[in-house]
Amino acid sequence: MVRLIDGKGLAQKMQAELAEKVTRLKEKEGLVPGLVVILVGENPASQVYVRNKERSAKKAGFFSETVRLSADISQKELLDVVDQYNRDDRFHGILVQLPLPDHIDEEEVVLAIDPTKDVDGFHHVNTGRLWSGKPAMIPCTPAGIMKMFAVYGVDLEGKNAVVVGRSNIVGKPMAALLLEANATVTSTHSRTKNLADITKTADILVVAIGRSKFITADYVKPGAVVIDVGMNRDENGKLSGDVDFEAVKPIADLITPVPGGVGPMTITMLLEQTYEAALATLK
Ligand code: GUN
Repeated sequence: MVRLIDGKGLAQKMQAELAEKVTRLKEKEGLVPGLVVILVGENPASQVYVRNKERSAKKAGFFSETVRLSADISQKELLDVVDQYNRDDRFHGILVQLPLPDHIDEEEVVLAIDPTKDVDGFHHVNTGRLWSGKPAMIPCTPAGIMKMFAVYGVDLEGKNAVVVGRSNIVGKPMAALLLEANATVTSTHSRTKNLADITKTADILVVAIGRSKFITADYVKPGAVVIDVGMNRDENGKLSGDVDFEAVKPIADLITPVPGGVGPMTITMLLEQTYEAALATLK
């Protein structure tokens, strides 16, 4: 019988627990975790994400600020804003919402963030530490997926894990985390030949390719754990995943729905990581 992974419920529980930890930290140490989210321009999806991050941070009792900058800001001006928050002790986490406008060098901006405040885990110091098996700030979506594996008792040791998609935000860090957990990992992507032959070997299948309902029953081994990172909107605004949920559900052992699966865990891990960054300043 398939079990659904209730990402929404888990996220609510974790955020409520985090709010209590934040209250205690305030009382005991006088320390309030601070998060600044920097948004450049008016990308509609980014505006929604940023509003949700701001709302969740405030609800958890964080010191939260959102900086909204004009789409025609110069590279130098944006780097100056990042530097201002690097030097501001009230903020333990800095998140620059991506994508940035075309005239901005995104990599230079990410690398300007103090790696100890890089709660997205995109700075090369953190990606390097992750791939070296060292403690690091970890991109929030794969971090949330690892948390779901832990809570649902998914044993990764020695298992065949297949990751579909190789983005810096999800696919690559996901592969690194699964490898670190002693899974046997295969990274696949849009140029992979005979993809279904490979995904059918997966005990653990993580899909992050941004193509609605791409993974059908033919791609899935009976009894697999299927994690769907997709967030695709059709012409009517309805959300769908990268996995054909109804077709795959009868085959899988454990599966994430969309919405209510991976998505809500991403913000939760952002807050957790910001809380940890605040704690680290006490040491
Ligand atoms: N854009 C889409 N996903 C993300 C994310 O996880 N972090 C940031 N900074 N931008 C994003």
